[in-house]
Amino acid sequence: MAISIGLNKVKTAVFISGTGSNLKSLIKFSKTEKSPISVSLIISDNPKAKGLIYGKKFKIKNKVFKFENSGLIENQLINTLKKNQIKLICLAGFMRILSRNFIKKFKGKIINIHPSLLPKYKGLDTHQRALDNNEKYSGCTVHFVNAKLDSGKIILQKKVRIKKKETKNSLGKKILLQEHKLYPKAILKIFNL
Ligand code: GRF
Repeated sequence: MAISIGLNKVKTAVFISGTGSNLKSLIKFSKTEKSPISVSLIISDNPKAKGLIYGKKFKIKNKVFKFENSGLIENQLINTLKKNQIKLICLAGFMRILSRNFIKKFKGKIINIHPSLLPKYKGLDTHQRALDNNEKYSGCTVHFVNAKLDSGKIILQKKVRIKKKETKNSLGKKILLQEHKLYPKAILKIFNL
């Protein structure tokens, strides 16, 4: 018999900075019966992030924070997350580095998706770096967030083959498609589902 998680879905915030295609896949997933989470808040550091439009379609609350004065802003952010009873944070193309203090406050409750097979290619421009090194494979990783950039415990990875004529763009598209499948799977895994 299927167990319905129903009203007890874990309130989740998705942090974005841009397109929000992973946000979109997480929202879709959260609407399914098997999902243990509901996306109830979207946080962006960028008022022009396209993902905000998608969130609005689904009437999901959003908040934009200007991270320039980051200490102060992070306190406001923590208050917002608490007020909204957020128990899981999914970083999805969020381009800011969260402080040690913030990460400590939500220890074990922040996860991120990264477009490489970590621990290879932490940081930016992962696809070009993989191509420059003539890698045969690249992929994506969902991991817990700790104080070191892209270094927390790995939850799940998906490998993709790099073809001979692969470009940064073709590789990026191929990996992004896999990201959309991997993030929901990783969430099921952390809930032991
Ligand atoms: C993804 O490739 C993600 O892995 C990286 O930033 C990109 C965000 O894409 N961290 P989107 O905004 O989810 O479309």
